[in-house]
Amino acid sequence: MDRVPTRASSRPARALAAAAGWSGKARAGLAIFASVLLVATALSSVAQEQSNKSGAFEPQVGQAGKDVVWVPTPQSLVNKMLEIAKATPQDYLIDLGSGDGRTVITAAQKGLTARGIEYNPQMVEVAQKAAKAAGVADRATFEKADLFESDFSKAQIITMFLLPWINEKLAPKLLELKPGTRIVSNTFQMGDWQADETATVTDDCTNYCKALLWIVPAKAAGSWQLGEAELQLEQKYQMLSGKLGPTEITDGRVRGTEVSFNVGDAKYTGKIEGKTMSGTVSGGRNGNWTATQK
Ligand SMILES: C[S@@+](CC[C@H](N)C(=O)[O-])C[C@H]1O[C@@H](n2cnc3c(N)ncnc32)[C@H](O)[C@@H]1O
Repeated sequence: MDRVPTRASSRPARALAAAAGWSGKARAGLAIFASVLLVATALSSVAQEQSNKSGAFEPQVGQAGKDVVWVPTPQSLVNKMLEIAKATPQDYLIDLGSGDGRTVITAAQKGLTARGIEYNPQMVEVAQKAAKAAGVADRATFEKADLFESDFSKAQIITMFLLPWINEKLAPKLLELKPGTRIVSNTFQMGDWQADETATVTDDCTNYCKALLWIVPAKAAGSWQLGEAELQLEQKYQMLSGKLGPTEITDGRVRGTEVSFNVGDAKYTGKIEGKTMSGTVSGGRNGNWTATQK
């Protein structure tokens, strides 16, 4: 599991950040990536030399970013992130903090339309050149922007390799996206919003090898009329609790627009469409059910 580096390994990065007048959060961000930065030092000095000779900008692993440094997602994890998001050519993907553009370009190679939002204009150029070289510049586009000021409401898939505090700050905005929107993060959690799925790659990956998937849940909280009974639901992210008549529901969950809960042995599954929920019930009381929001 990837952990925040020890104090010893993060101290130089913290000191550097403090000297540069970075905020506490930005400093913590730099510290998280400090171990990768140390490993990358030898590589960067070679890259630095190359960039000096050619005069062209060469990205350096660990280079400063507005809120988080640049560390690329291993390609095997990029593939896994798209796999667990069940990406299809019909999807529009946005990568928040797109770096060298690898997630956007891989998505475009799979037939998706994809856009990267990246604060560093030099990284935007690097990504645009890479998209052109890969022959997907028509479907893989990049924009120089701050992810905190960007509109990503049109995306069906959001990918990100940011930091826990950034994910947590984005969560309220992500929860307002269309139900069913998939959000995939490299390694980092999103506060107390538990992931719906996780997957880890072991091939060609030594650091940052875990993908976490969240599916934006439809809103189900409130009072519903289900046949003769009142269904009262409370919702925390994708988890549902509440009662059907006097009986507590169990295992209540919303996955996009799909809803499921049990009442005793009866298993209710269905779909939420605005103010109506409907589906089937099994486990004794077999049949169809419909509920209307009050
Ligand atoms: C850890 S890298 C991830 C790059 C890429 N998504 C990947 O997975 O390979 C984070 C990227 O976010 C960019 N970044 C940092 N703060 C940002 C902000 N506020 N808005 C947009 N991009 C930002 C950095 O420049 C860096 O390229």
